[in-house]
Amino acid sequence: MARPRPRDDLATLTGYHSPQLSVDVRLNTNEAPEAPPPAFTAAVQEALADLEWHRYPDRGAWELRRAIARLHGRSAEHVFCANGSNEVLQTVVLAFAGAGRTVATFEPTYAMHGHIARISGATTVAGHRNEDFTLDLERVADLIDTSRPSVVFLCSPNNPTGTVETEASISSVLAMVEAADGLLVVDEAYGQFSPWSALSLLDEERSLVVTRTFSKTWAMAGARLGYLLGPTWLVAELDKVVLPYHLDAVKQRAGLVALDFVEAMEQRVAAIVEERGRLQVALTALGATVWPSGANFILFRPPAERGLEGQTVWERLVERSVLVRNTSSWEGLDGCLRVTVGTKDDNDRFLDALTDTLDRSRGAPTSRPPGTETG
Ligand SMILES: Cc1ncc(COP(=O)(O)O)c(C=O)c1O
Repeated sequence: MARPRPRDDLATLTGYHSPQLSVDVRLNTNEAPEAPPPAFTAAVQEALADLEWHRYPDRGAWELRRAIARLHGRSAEHVFCANGSNEVLQTVVLAFAGAGRTVATFEPTYAMHGHIARISGATTVAGHRNEDFTLDLERVADLIDTSRPSVVFLCSPNNPTGTVETEASISSVLAMVEAADGLLVVDEAYGQFSPWSALSLLDEERSLVVTRTFSKTWAMAGARLGYLLGPTWLVAELDKVVLPYHLDAVKQRAGLVALDFVEAMEQRVAAIVEERGRLQVALTALGATVWPSGANFILFRPPAERGLEGQTVWERLVERSVLVRNTSSWEGLDGCLRVTVGTKDDNDRFLDALTDTLDRSRGAPTSRPPGTETG
């Protein structure tokens, strides 16, 4: 029997790869380093007590949409929720891209944007960033002019570089995208860590959506919940495309409860931003090249003079039970690694492991660089 073949256009697809290794310190997927407070867990348990397990959930998740809308000073018709922001992005692509249409990304960026587009059958075009990972607006204009994409992705802060797009650059790209009758998606999975948000640019008359997630700042990656804010006419299109009852009742309630803990979330964000600063200083002191980050992770390149490739540094860190993201072979990121900002202890473990790795590469005794004592 001949096996059924998947679609020809999927033949070269390799799927999503991020090793899930069993290590002590996991700093590879930009999750929140700590669970939400015990009061949250208790409130979720209470909220689930009268759940009607035998009934389908509220199909539109309207209570949750209303609560998210309140958080952002909007109305529920501007909100679309799904199973993680990945499903939000997928729904946007299913509705506005797909076969016969084009999706544009600016590399290096979040790999799932192009991946989801290709799975939808869309053609993808990849523009490239400047060496410092900012956008070259002239090159962006050229790409949009020639390929006239239906959907353009920007990610701010950008994963994996940490770059925050300026308001001026997002506004310029939006004007270009609108002139090509396309839609601009600004992925703000790390938006709360950043000094400004494209949410301020949303308007019923603009072809702009902003996506957010509960996976990072809300410390709920296990629940898979994300959303977007956008014009009502666009949200209505997404509601036509998404599967009925896709958002289960447990998640809807957990999301609602999370929104009662905004202060705890903001405290976690502040602590991570502080730790991010400490890590940046320590990595620089170790001789690494460090890029500015507006997110909960840092892109860095280990010092070349130690003679270790990024891949080798990554392996040595794993040997020391520390897992970071190996981006060293990604286009434009030669030799780079991406580390998630963890708890103070996790970050110390990471710095110790990196210091040890680099010291051993030149046969020197193990020692943290001066000024990086963590107390
Ligand atoms: C930029 C970006 N967008 C979206 C996602 C997906 O997040 P979610 O867990 O909400 O699907 C991630 C996850 O790492 C991300 O980095």
